[in-house]
Amino acid sequence: MTVLPSALDTRGPDHAAHRAAMLAKLADLDAEHAKALAGGGEKYVQRHRARGKLLARERVELLLDPDTPFLELSPLAAWGSDYTVGASLVTGIGVVEGVECLITANDPTVRGGASNPWSLKKALRAHEVALANRLPVISLVESGGADLPSQKEIFIPGGAIFRDLTRLSAAGIPTVAVVFGNSTAGGAYVPGMSDHVIMVKERAKVFLGGPPLVKMATGEESDDESLGGAEMHARVSGLADHFAVDEPDALRQARRVVARLNHRKAYPDPGPAEPPKYDPEELLGVVPDDLKVPFDPREVIARIVDASDFDEFKPLYGTSLVTGWARLHGYPVGVLANAQGVLFSAESQKAAQFIQLANQRDVPLLFLHNTTGYMVGREYEQGGIIKHGAMMINAVSNSRVPHLSVLLGASYGAGHYGMCGRAYDPRFLFAWPSAKSAVMGPQQLAGVLSIVARQSAAAKGAPYDEEADAGLRALVEQQIESESLPMFLSGRLYDDGVIDPRDTRTVLGLCLSAIHTAPYEGARGGFGVFRM
Ligand code: COA
Repeated sequence: MTVLPSALDTRGPDHAAHRAAMLAKLADLDAEHAKALAGGGEKYVQRHRARGKLLARERVELLLDPDTPFLELSPLAAWGSDYTVGASLVTGIGVVEGVECLITANDPTVRGGASNPWSLKKALRAHEVALANRLPVISLVESGGADLPSQKEIFIPGGAIFRDLTRLSAAGIPTVAVVFGNSTAGGAYVPGMSDHVIMVKERAKVFLGGPPLVKMATGEESDDESLGGAEMHARVSGLADHFAVDEPDALRQARRVVARLNHRKAYPDPGPAEPPKYDPEELLGVVPDDLKVPFDPREVIARIVDASDFDEFKPLYGTSLVTGWARLHGYPVGVLANAQGVLFSAESQKAAQFIQLANQRDVPLLFLHNTTGYMVGREYEQGGIIKHGAMMINAVSNSRVPHLSVLLGASYGAGHYGMCGRAYDPRFLFAWPSAKSAVMGPQQLAGVLSIVARQSAAAKGAPYDEEADAGLRALVEQQIESESLPMFLSGRLYDDGVIDPRDTRTVLGLCLSAIHTAPYEGARGGFGVFRM
């Protein structure tokens, strides 16, 4: 075995300082997660309960197999926006009757569960996860439909929700809708487009237009129940396949539907795996609060892979990128991890070669980000850094094995792209609270702006206001810093969540298990032209 050694001084002052900084960030993160859990707040939660209804996460809990985990995705969606943290929708992966499923649940305590632009982004991302990994979709529905004041942002793109449901079905991926309440107008197409529909007695309201709208349109007098009640749909229209007497009954019936799907994973479960040799608790002290200070990503790899066993590839070449083979919860993975921050030509070529090797042997790739980007400067430009970075980006873009990305520290510039950033479609992307991502570091960006402004003033022969420049620099630096932080980026759905470093192995294990529901094959060719 090739067990990674550790040079981490867990009793030293650096470790203690890093750990304290990480714990402070985790406490901030907890406070933001609590906002998502609080939904629409005390008043609306009380009212919902007084109506004898379960909360969104309680519904999810009753749906899942007892004592199994739920990998919630993007709980901080809408953070930093005008909308409630969580975006009035819960999404994630959980196990129902032994089958990994993608679950979405409207949160009716937040503006009647209406969908705002962030809820839409979150729902579309959930469907993308289901399609890529062949996970059955279970929609727990109770929503006021489109958030009306923001309808211009969602009405037209929102049609993709219903398109996705039928495309999932066409791809042989089962879809189940459980309707607990309002599901009207466009929302009626969630049950309308799902393979299996369960409705709750006297609660489900599934109609294209409610009584007032019908009265306006045709003059007909009607009521909720005759237009869209569960009993009507189960006995008369046939839209409901199953009639549930109450919410727990509906969730029980959803479990029975999944039990009969005969949905099979493409790969068998690899069985129990040996844990890492080092305590994952120590991951709290690996990343320095100041990201300019480098850290050895092998200390992270040693605490997330099976038995801390890692076969490094090209360890003496392009040393600012660590590449190598390991297993994670029994699944083989190829790891690419930044060591010294900067990517040079050698690192880029090493990455391109390694990605091709992983494709040849059908091994998923794990990218651990801590990069300030590709090296700049005359020597490096003349040495072909653009060509070499392009080789890496070509390899990442055309690779066909599943990719996982975790932002540990910096993820700046094109380095974010080469390391399989969000736009490169990793199956899953998570960030540690220590991560920062932007076009470049805040200081560098503010400095560049200042140089450009100074040159522009000189070209016009105008005097340069140094005092205003200093003020502007500070302001820009602050703005870019706040826009680089993981909560901000998670709010915009640029990741699938911000995770506690100690949970990394578990989160990646759950992702790898979900990934292995769908068959995959590496690219045996089919890369673009590698510029040499
Ligand atoms: N857009 C924006 N806000 C909405 C909304 C929507 N579609 N639906 C509800 N809300 C808001 C309400 O204005 C209310 O805000 P307030 O508490 O600040 O007054 C809050 O969400 C809760 O709504 P309320 O009606 O008190 O909740 P309820 O649980 O009794 O009823 C609905 C929920 C969804 C049945 C009801 O609000 C409704 O019919 N909404 C409109 C549905 C609709 O026609 N949508 C268009 C479909 S495309």
